[in-house]
Amino acid sequence: MPVDNEIYNRPGDIWWDEHEPLNAIRTAINPARLEYFTRVFGELGVDPAGKSVVDIGCGGGLFAEEFARLGARVIGVDPSTSSLNTARSHASAVGLSIDYREGAGEKLPLEDHSVDIACCVDVLEHVSDLDAVIGETARVLRIGGLYVFDTINRTRRSRFVMIKLLQEWRVTAWMPRNLHAWDQFITPDELHVVMRRHQLERGDIVGLGPGVKLPQLLRMLWRLRRGRMSYGEFGRRARFVVTKDVRVSYAGYARKGGIIGPNAR
Ligand SMILES: C[S@@+](CC[C@H](N)C(=O)[O-])C[C@H]1O[C@@H](n2cnc3c(N)ncnc32)[C@H](O)[C@@H]1O
Repeated sequence: MPVDNEIYNRPGDIWWDEHEPLNAIRTAINPARLEYFTRVFGELGVDPAGKSVVDIGCGGGLFAEEFARLGARVIGVDPSTSSLNTARSHASAVGLSIDYREGAGEKLPLEDHSVDIACCVDVLEHVSDLDAVIGETARVLRIGGLYVFDTINRTRRSRFVMIKLLQEWRVTAWMPRNLHAWDQFITPDELHVVMRRHQLERGDIVGLGPGVKLPQLLRMLWRLRRGRMSYGEFGRRARFVVTKDVRVSYAGYARKGGIIGPNAR
């Protein structure tokens, strides 16, 4: 069964409200993403302040706002009108200036070679045409520009954690049933091949995973399912860390080199 992206069109604030499932992205995963990407920026000598950054599949702006706080000029792109409305109102409420645009990763509303950094977090596993999304990312990046991403690996472990535990088993599942489809998960090698085809030279990857052990995670899921904890609180307690284990979530970066066009294939 394919991924159901209609979830992101639900009315109301499905992103910043602590009692909404997607809020757990903010409290659980954002700190680890930020820590890792900041480390990459430091190692590569890239200061995001003043740089143009596109956040592809920005949803309600949870991560776009992190870049804006680092001083970047941020453009957030997402196909969901209602998510973008939430993102715009939140940015305005907290006094951040972010240019939100409706569009899909497969056809970005941006000029060729117009951004310094492209970010795509928890999105690649939701798109139907990975090659087109990576091709578009490469098109809009300047030569030498940086691509930072995270996504979900396609392994037995990710089937157990992301599908069985979080979507299917009644006692522990809290994600909508078709939020993820296991066969749309992407192995690091598959992503590497697609990125190389589009002149994106990948660096090392790291794993991102909960900072608590499985038994504690199961107890927390049980409490979450019974309404004894908000999603925001669950995320804070499960707070992700950067690890060597890339069997479920992994993050990485790539640099744009060479020329983009028909010769790139
Ligand atoms: C799991 S959410 C991640 C949101 C955001 N990146 C974050 O981490 O907070 C997946 C997002 O991908 C968006 N999306 C789905 N299909 C897409 C596509 N083809 N191109 C760009 N974004 C897409 C959805 O609308 C949704 O906002």
